[in-house]
Amino acid sequence: MKKLNWGMIGGGKGSQIGPAHRLAAGLDGLYSFAAGALDHDPAAGRAFGQELGLAPDRAYGDWREMLAGESSRVDRVDLVTVATPNATHYEISKAFLQAGFNVLCEKPMTVTEAEAEDLVLTARKAGRICAVNYGYTGYALVRHMRAMVARGDIGGVRLVVAEFAHGHHANAADMDNPRVRWRYDPAQAGVSAQFADCGIHALHMASFVTGQEVSKLSADFASCLSARVLEDDAMVNFRMSGGTVGRLWTSSVAIGRQHGLTIQVFGETGGLRWSQEQPNQLFYMPLGQRLQVIERGEGNLSPEADRASRVTVGHAEGMPLAFGNIYRDLGETILALQAGRTPDPAAALFPTAEDGLRSIAAIHSAVASAAGHGTWVDARPGLFR
Ligand code: NAI
Repeated sequence: MKKLNWGMIGGGKGSQIGPAHRLAAGLDGLYSFAAGALDHDPAAGRAFGQELGLAPDRAYGDWREMLAGESSRVDRVDLVTVATPNATHYEISKAFLQAGFNVLCEKPMTVTEAEAEDLVLTARKAGRICAVNYGYTGYALVRHMRAMVARGDIGGVRLVVAEFAHGHHANAADMDNPRVRWRYDPAQAGVSAQFADCGIHALHMASFVTGQEVSKLSADFASCLSARVLEDDAMVNFRMSGGTVGRLWTSSVAIGRQHGLTIQVFGETGGLRWSQEQPNQLFYMPLGQRLQVIERGEGNLSPEADRASRVTVGHAEGMPLAFGNIYRDLGETILALQAGRTPDPAAALFPTAEDGLRSIAAIHSAVASAAGHGTWVDARPGLFR
């Protein structure tokens, strides 16, 4: 079978998310790592690219060089991952889409809603995929939760409660640590810190699992370390397109919490709870019965969970494998489109630029709401109203 050529921008040596992408893209033999502009320092990027096995002429010094180089090749990359800092996502993703490349962009997709809308429209015009790495939706049991909700196992969904709360920025002595400080500086981080960085994963997951969009929200932002300009803690109440009530807490000062991504869904006839730090168990409480622990990899799960599950029951699966499911969905879809076939609907679960746009709109709505002391605001992007 034809392999796809894959390229990466950002994700250089020592980066946080680069290794997870490389593990994920390598999982199914769908991709060959063919090109990269991996670092803000051109020499470091070229050297690291070659260390990882890229040919010297495809270990580029910067993304513009990579765009020019790849555009002129017959074996150009089929998918480009953009894993650079947030403020650069828009310019890089737009340039590659316009040149006819498929893009997987890290979250948050852009800084402004106008940029996000433009990426949606650019991808549509180019006839290319622009996906966004809400990679935690690749976990087998998150997909099973979604399938259980869709097939009515817990009845109509009344309430969704999402959290993404960690304690890694709680130490006041760290305030001036350069790796922490920029995140709370509007000039570098944009309009929101913790909600845009982490809360947004939880909000997207609420939509993914319930199959509903966020329609309006009311936010309370706080800087628990008072010298911070941007929020390090937020509570967001929301309502969804199908009438579900939503609650979301995100924090970076919750000492003792590690990654802290958890989602709970409560319906008319049952409840579900999943935590990313114990991703191989899903807790299911059918109304009036006993609690059931659903194990990833056991028999009789949904086709979505079976497809996403990679190793046998009892062996832990984690984040790079979840990202691997996003890469496989994307790869299978790109291969089908390139061959003129209709993509398999089972591979259509990767988050898209439309999801990225919804998130950016929600971030700006939450900032506006918080500034208005929690006033309820429309959370939908202008493009979808
Ligand atoms: P990082 O600071 O650890 O690494 C960024 C990398 O990009 C570095 O290697 C840097 O040299 C490189 N870089 C910076 N500017 C560049 C440019 N113009 N061209 C080429 N390379 C450039 O950052 P981290 O934590 O890896 O975050 C990167 C992105 O991934 C962010 O947008 C972040 O929000 C996102 N992220 C997503 C996660 C997820 O769960 N989906 C988790 C962590 C980060």
